[in-house]
Amino acid sequence: MSYSLEDFSNECKAALNKNSGAEGTELVRQAVEKACKDNDFIAAYFPPDNNEERKLIYKDPELGFCIFTHVYTGAKTSPPHDHGPSWAIYGQAEGTTEMTDWRCVEKPSEDSPGLVEKVKTYKLTPGMAYAYQVGELHSPLRTGSTKLIRIEGMNMEGVQRDTYMVAS
Ligand SMILES: [Fe+2]
Repeated sequence: MSYSLEDFSNECKAALNKNSGAEGTELVRQAVEKACKDNDFIAAYFPPDNNEERKLIYKDPELGFCIFTHVYTGAKTSPPHDHGPSWAIYGQAEGTTEMTDWRCVEKPSEDSPGLVEKVKTYKLTPGMAYAYQVGELHSPLRTGSTKLIRIEGMNMEGVQRDTYMVAS
């Protein structure tokens, strides 16, 4: 039986209503993996004409969490970042993301970026999802085209985020 957006969002909602912390986001992460592994879900939300880098496919009216699809044509990388006041879950639908986790060694200030040190690098391949709790710094590197399903605890569009540099 295929996994619908309704099943997916209901599962996320139930998990977050039960527990809004790490336990809840772990269940959401599992739901993201389920969506990434479901051929019908992928076919429905990544049709050939979806080439949008960021597309909101669901916003929960009550809890505010948002489900996005991302289609990156060619390489796409981001510098170390967190998601401000939100957690974020990255699920790989197609291609590979090489993710690096970072530790903050100097907090950002008004006029200088924060400094970070590398913790570890690992690969997200199709069917895998990782959860980043509030403040957990990470940077995705994608050398080829990729497709992702991502959830944020709230829509972060337009929210100013801190910048970080790798400590030398
Ligand atoms: Fe992120």
